[in-house]
Amino acid sequence: MRIDILTLFPDMLTGFLNESIIKRAIADNKVTINLIDYRKYTKLNNNQVDDTAFGGGAGMVIMCEPIVLALEDIKTDDSHIILLDPKGKLYKQKEAKRLKEYKHLILICGHYEGIDERIKNYVDEVISIGDYILTGGELASAIITDSVVRLLPGVITSESLDSESFDENLLDYPVYTKPRNFRGYEVPEVLLSGNHKLIDEYRYNERVRLTKENRPDLIGDKDE
Ligand code: ADE
Repeated sequence: MRIDILTLFPDMLTGFLNESIIKRAIADNKVTINLIDYRKYTKLNNNQVDDTAFGGGAGMVIMCEPIVLALEDIKTDDSHIILLDPKGKLYKQKEAKRLKEYKHLILICGHYEGIDERIKNYVDEVISIGDYILTGGELASAIITDSVVRLLPGVITSESLDSESFDENLLDYPVYTKPRNFRGYEVPEVLLSGNHKLIDEYRYNERVRLTKENRPDLIGDKDE
């Protein structure tokens, strides 16, 4: 898979690409990730990419042209173009599973007051990562990249993907490691029993308990 991230602030993402599982996935050629500063595509003086909003209002609006020129430069028949915007469709694990099937994702990050609405004519979908406003789409693009890349074949063990939060509309079960007793807090006895039937049962019940407690909205959610 190739992921191109169009941003005015590529340095916001360099640290993220140079650590841990994502760094290894890049080194192992499971994914190629390019940070593309679309400011370099502007035809205006002083590298201008934004201007005031028609109709008035606070803040600057990013123009379509530099982004569209960047898209025309990089897109292929395999490209799937996503705009990150709090006005988009809410991102969930099922979207990560869907997006991992594309050969080429292009993620467009806005900033300031957003991008000229006409950019929607050039994108395949608009995604929001949650009901809060970030300073720009960069962290949203990192979240989408991270959640998709970890699902690519060979990036993490398939066993790790076997049971995860949001599978079957349930949160994941809690995990414990050594020591058995940490400052008086014990590991649940059943996990030490070696009885895998009992352990599976305990873990399933914990998934149901945690989901009811923390995310009752997931239960019966047909969206998953
Ligand atoms: N840009 C600013 N806030 C965002 C959000 N919640 N999701 C996606 N892009 C954004």
